[in-house]
Amino acid sequence: MSKILVTGGTGFIGSHTVVELHNAGYEVVIIDNLSNSNPRILDQIESIIGLKPEFAELDLCDEAKVNAFAESHQDISGVIHFAAYKAVGESVQQPLKYYRNNFYSLINLINAFGSKLNLVFSSSCTVYGQPDVLPVTEEAPTKKAESPYGNTKQIAEEILQETCAVVPDLKVISLRYFNPVGAHASALIGELPIGVPQNLVPFITQSAIGKRGAITVFGNDYNTPDGSAVRDYIHVVDLAKAHVAAVRRLENGDAAQNYEVFNLGTGKGSTVLEVIHAFEQSTGEKLDYIIGPRRSGDVEKVWGDVTKSTQILGWKAELGLEEMMSSAWNWEKYLRDNPF
Ligand code: WQD
Repeated sequence: MSKILVTGGTGFIGSHTVVELHNAGYEVVIIDNLSNSNPRILDQIESIIGLKPEFAELDLCDEAKVNAFAESHQDISGVIHFAAYKAVGESVQQPLKYYRNNFYSLINLINAFGSKLNLVFSSSCTVYGQPDVLPVTEEAPTKKAESPYGNTKQIAEEILQETCAVVPDLKVISLRYFNPVGAHASALIGELPIGVPQNLVPFITQSAIGKRGAITVFGNDYNTPDGSAVRDYIHVVDLAKAHVAAVRRLENGDAAQNYEVFNLGTGKGSTVLEVIHAFEQSTGEKLDYIIGPRRSGDVEKVWGDVTKSTQILGWKAELGLEEMMSSAWNWEKYLRDNPF
C-alpha cells in the first residue's frame, strides 16, 4: 500500500483529502503545525475511516525537523502539500509572515524529500486574477496577484516549474482550486474558519445558525446576470478526489512533462445571489442579506475550463450547488451541537 504524506492534513481540504486517499487504498501520514486547524479533526477522521492516520505536529519552516522527518519516513511515495497560510486580507496586513511561511515550508519539503519526489501542490485560481477569456484555461496568462497570498501561489508555481526543469526526477502537479465549499456527507469534518469568516459560504452558514448577522453581498453592480460577482464553487469532496487522481498520475509516471497544472472547478459559474438562493432552496432556511459595496481585490467573474482535468486526470466534479449548501449546513449544525 503506497504511503502518502499530507501536509496541512487537519485543515479543510487536507482532512477531506485524507479521507479520500484512505478510501482509494492509500496509507496516509499527516504533518500539521495546528496553526489554523484543530487536532480534534484527527478524531473526526478516525470516526469516518475507522483508523487514526500517523500524525506529526511539526512546523515545515523548521528545516532540521523536516529533514529528520523525511529521514525517518523513506517509504513515503508522494506528498500532497496543503500547509500554507491562506487568508487574503491577513496577507495584505502581514506580507512577510506569508512569504516566509509559504516559501520556507515548500523549499524545506522539496529539499528534505530529495529529487525523487512526487509532489501535488495546492494552488489557486487566484493566479488568473480577472481572466480576459472565460471559462479560463490552464494556458491563460497569470496576472499580477491582488494580494501577497495570491503572490505566494504564483511564485510557488514558478519555483516548482523552474526546479522541475533541472531536477528530472522531481515530478509535480499544481492544482488550481476555484472556490472550495461544502463538507463531508457525515458532517464530521468541514470548514473551521477562525474568527469572522471571510469566505462566503461559511459566513452564510454562520448567519443561518445565528452566529452572525445579515450577510453583506459585496456589490450587485457587476456585469453579471444579477449584478453580484461570479465564482466557480466546487464541493470539497470532489476537490479531494481530484488529489487522489493527481497522486495516481504521478505514481503511474504517465506525464510527458514533470511539471503539470490542472484547474479544479466545476466549469460552471454562480453568482453570490444564486448561492444564497441555492442555500435557502436546499435547506429551507431563510437568509437575511443586504447589498453592500464591492470588496476591494475581488474579481468580477471567474470560472474554470476543466477539460484538461477531465481528459488527463480522468476526474470531473459530480456534486452540485445544492449538495454543497446542504452539506455545509449539516456541518454547521454539527458544530452547534458539538462545539470544537
Ligand atoms: C466569494 C464571493 C465575494 C463574503 C477566496 C480566495 C481564493 C480561494 C477561494 C484559496 C466573492 C462574495 C464573500 C461575504 C460576499 N482561496 N462575498 N459576502 O474571494 O472568491 O476566493 O477563496 O485558494 O484564493 O481569494 O472567495 O468566498 O471570499 O468570496 O458577497 O460575506 O462571495 O465578494 O464575490 P474568493 P470568497
